[in-house]
Amino acid sequence: MKVMNDSRLVIHQSTPHDKQSSFAEDVRAGLTARPKTLPPKYFYDDLGSQLFEAICLLPEYYSTRAEAEIFHRHAAEIVSQLSAPVGVVELGSGSSVKTRLLIEAILARQPELHYQPMDISASILQHSAEKLLGEYSRLRITGHVGDYTRGLDSIVRRDGESLLALFLGSNIGNYTPEDARSLLKAIRATQRTGDGLLLGADLKKSLDVLIPAYDDALGITAAFNLNLLARINRELGANFDLANFQHRAVFNHEAGRIEMHLVSRSEQTVVIGALDLQIEFQSGETIHTENSYKYDLPQLAALAEETGFQPMKTWLDGERRFSCNFWLAS
Ligand code: TRP
Repeated sequence: MKVMNDSRLVIHQSTPHDKQSSFAEDVRAGLTARPKTLPPKYFYDDLGSQLFEAICLLPEYYSTRAEAEIFHRHAAEIVSQLSAPVGVVELGSGSSVKTRLLIEAILARQPELHYQPMDISASILQHSAEKLLGEYSRLRITGHVGDYTRGLDSIVRRDGESLLALFLGSNIGNYTPEDARSLLKAIRATQRTGDGLLLGADLKKSLDVLIPAYDDALGITAAFNLNLLARINRELGANFDLANFQHRAVFNHEAGRIEMHLVSRSEQTVVIGALDLQIEFQSGETIHTENSYKYDLPQLAALAEETGFQPMKTWLDGERRFSCNFWLAS
């Protein structure tokens, strides 16, 4: 469904009905599984997306600032990895705050730019697209609200232009290695030889830095995590008592990932009205809500080779916490 169309902005959106039934099915599947899980894409309703924007401002959450620092220093060099003109595709564009640094660098060397952002949150996508168009008169935007798979199917390219795909913010870290490989292959399948992928990946580091990034002193990440239960209450008529669940972030050494969980503080039963379902929790039982895998540079190079890319260049922030990797579709 096309929800918005003026001369420079088109936003495509899958129908709300689809969205609601898959949310219900995914919640049922996750909460009846052992161990219990919930898919992280449902964090990003309107409130969740705003909470995530707040996380990006936290002193403990370094990733956003580290990646922005890399773009501030190296945007011109990054975009020069492909010859002009380029079009830009972005998976999980969010507020597009960091992306504008790349957009500016691209507009400095070509007359116009077609930007194709995809995001799960309609409100964030619409808001950021309108803001960008207000600031850059030579920009045109075709946005896709929903899962990446649909957005990837509808990428377009103008004659003579190469495409730069952006997958920033360590979004890749939220996929298991196996799912990451499939997604990267799916991105590669939309590309031609000579197109590029810019991948932002968080690096392995001391737990003294890593844990607070996912468990901050103000409790914003806890609120972000708990909002998933609040959303199930709101949209599926459940009665989760949020005070009876606790946010927990732990590092799983074997898997090389931060895990976020919601821990039941007591033995309790939750009713989900719209699913006609009762869920029992033991005291201390957890719902696993998110993984954030941490990479090292050899792992990233291997990932490129396995998925049809040639790793060309990596930029790090000054403290070497975060990596930006330019891969060429080979
Ligand atoms: N992909 C980012 C990361 O793994 C962003 C993110 C997802 C996040 N869920 C989060 C950040 C929860 C903080 C808390 O870091």
